[in-house]
This record gives sequence, structure tokens and C-alpha cells, in this order.
Amino acid sequence: MSGGSGAGTAAADRIRAFPFPFAQDSYRYSTNLGPAGQPVQTSTGRWGDSVLHIDAGYAAELAERRAILGRDPSRMQVLPHMRPAAWDAMLTLMQELAATYPDTMALHREPAGRFRWTNRRRGIDQRFSYGDPSTLPQAPLAFIGDQVQEDIVLLDQREGQLFVDAGLVCFASNWSFGFDLGMSFLEIHGPVPRVHDTGVITRAQQLLLRLQPDVPYRRTNWSLAVGGHLDLSTETYPEWGPGRDRIHEVDDATFGAEVHLRVEVQHLLRLPETGCVMFLIRTYQLPLEVIAEVQPWRERLAAVLAELPEDMADYKGFTAYRNRAVDWLSDRAASGSVD
Ligand code: HEM
Repeated sequence: MSGGSGAGTAAADRIRAFPFPFAQDSYRYSTNLGPAGQPVQTSTGRWGDSVLHIDAGYAAELAERRAILGRDPSRMQVLPHMRPAAWDAMLTLMQELAATYPDTMALHREPAGRFRWTNRRRGIDQRFSYGDPSTLPQAPLAFIGDQVQEDIVLLDQREGQLFVDAGLVCFASNWSFGFDLGMSFLEIHGPVPRVHDTGVITRAQQLLLRLQPDVPYRRTNWSLAVGGHLDLSTETYPEWGPGRDRIHEVDDATFGAEVHLRVEVQHLLRLPETGCVMFLIRTYQLPLEVIAEVQPWRERLAAVLAELPEDMADYKGFTAYRNRAVDWLSDRAASGSVD
């Protein structure tokens, strides 16, 4: 799949960098937090070299985020006490971008609390005074949210807890940022099965409360999703829900093209100025027909789906087509692998 055309190369890159999330043939929830920045080798390539990841989808995903925000401004909210954290997040993300993509991004500190930010991929050359909104064309979270593919959540830490008090989330996987705004980390995870008895969420919270600046952590989460839409927010359920609920009616070729393995790479960083926690969610998707071309992925995903307990499949929203996905993957002879 070395591909001569731009589109072919982009597709091959997406497969090479896909964060296939399973290290064994079964899956259970776990805290699964580990240090960020350490690459993970997969059957097709590797992922995880950096906190932020720009790929060929950059322009399209940012255009989609813009369109979603235009239709539904509730996807970005900053409670008043979090305004300093939004600046902190913006500067931290600029530093990450500049460190990871020095050919196209640069952040220069100038005298008197001023900065110059350049993002040549977006045609941006912007001077600003840290903390002064009149020096930016948009609010800081909107400005930086238009330059990273990651969704951004900012958590305030107070009284030994974490609260989701700001963010810019356009690509939620079956939840609503607007609904969760102001809720605690424990409240938000209330509906997740199993994690309370097993202590997964309280352990995660303990770790997050002790997070140190400059020592980012990461984890993955996954699901199956229909249609390849990035925006699976509760708000747009009428747009994507019916397609999901009718997926059992389609023929095999359509099933393989429509059902996607959806993986989130989630990073957690302590912001240096405000002490808030920044949670970044980067969403990757590949259709089953592409997963099936990579034999170890095809076999492992089939095994994981076949073994997954009913309550977890239910919560993830694919009970109705889980067995069909297992059969589809199992029936599929490997038609080649990615070089
Ligand atoms: C869902 C664990 C961080 C927001 C979940 C699920 C797990 C989990 C196991 C169920 C996912 C599924 O079945 O697909 C963790 C762990 C974390 C963490 C171990 C450690 C850092 C966060 C943070 C946020 C967050 C920082 C902040 C917004 C959510 C939301 C859901 C979710 C909104 C969906 C809940 C719903 O259905 O309404 N999380 N999470 N998580 N998590 Fe987390």
C-alpha cells in the first residue's frame, strides 16, 4: 500500500498510524494510564510518538469542527473561573505543536508577556499578549481548537476532586459535553458499568490528582461505530442513531464499509500556570473492511468482540450488531497485509 496518489498515501498513512488498542484476545476496563510520548509498535507501523498528532485529515477535521461549532456553540464552553485555564491550555498546546512540528509551527516569547505564534499549515502568524483576549481573533480555546485535531476538556481540581468546567468537544462518542459541563470526574463516570466495583475510576482519579506538569499520561478507549462520523454526540443522535439501528439490514459489503473500529487516544496533562488538568481526545476510525486486511487485527478484533461481556457491549452501543461483526470478520479470508 505504498500508493502513488496523494489520497492513496493518506489512506496508507492512516493505517500505519492507527492505534490498534488490543494487546490480547479479551478486553476489560482498566485504568490503563501510562506515560505519554512512547511509541507503540503495531502490525502496520506505530503510533504515540507525541501528545498531539497531525495527519492528512487535519484540514478536513478542522473544517468539520468549525461547522459543528457554527451550528452548535454549546460544544465550546468555559465557566468563568476557567478563563485563565483556557489561556494555559492554549499556550501549552502551542508549545507541544512547536516541539512536534518545528517545520511549520513556532512560538516565540517576546518582551512584556507577548508571544508570536506561527502555524504555517493554517496560514497563521499572530502576536498576542498572554491573558488579553483583545489580542486574539477568537477566544483562546476556539483559537487553538482550530489548529489541533484533538478535542479538549479542562478539569478544575478543588477539594480533592476534578470537575469538567471547560472544553471544546465536537467529536464526542455518544456523550454530551454540554450536559457533563460542571460535573465531577466521578459523576461523569457514574453510568459506566463495572468500573466502580473494580475501583478503576477511583484509581484513575488518584493518579490524575497527582499528575505533574511536564509528565503527561495517556490511555486509549475504543468502540464500534457506524458510518465513520466523527461527531457522535448525544445532540446529533437523530443524525447517526437511525443508521446504527438499521445496520443489521445491510448487505455484507456495506457492513464492512460502514462499521468502524473507533479508537480514542486520550492524553492527560497538568497545566503549569493554573494547575488544571487538560484532557485531550483524538479520535481515529478504520472500517472493518480495512481492519480485515491486516490479519492479526482481524483475528484479534473478532476474538475481543466475541468474548466481550454483554453489559460492556450494551454500554458501548453495539449489542445489536456485535455477533454480525464477529461473523463478518471470521468469514473474511485475509486479502493481503499492509507493507
Ligand atoms: C467513559 C475510564 C478519564 C470522560 C469512560 C469509560 C471508561 C472510562 C472505562 C467507558 C468507555 C466505554 O465503554 O467506551 C476513564 C479513565 C480515565 C478517564 C480510566 C483516566 C484518566 C476521563 C476524563 C474525562 C472522561 C478526564 C473528562 C471528560 C468520560 C465520558 C465518558 C467516559 C464523558 C462517557 C460517559 C457516558 O456514557 O456518559 N471513561 N476515563 N474520562 N469518560 Fe472516562
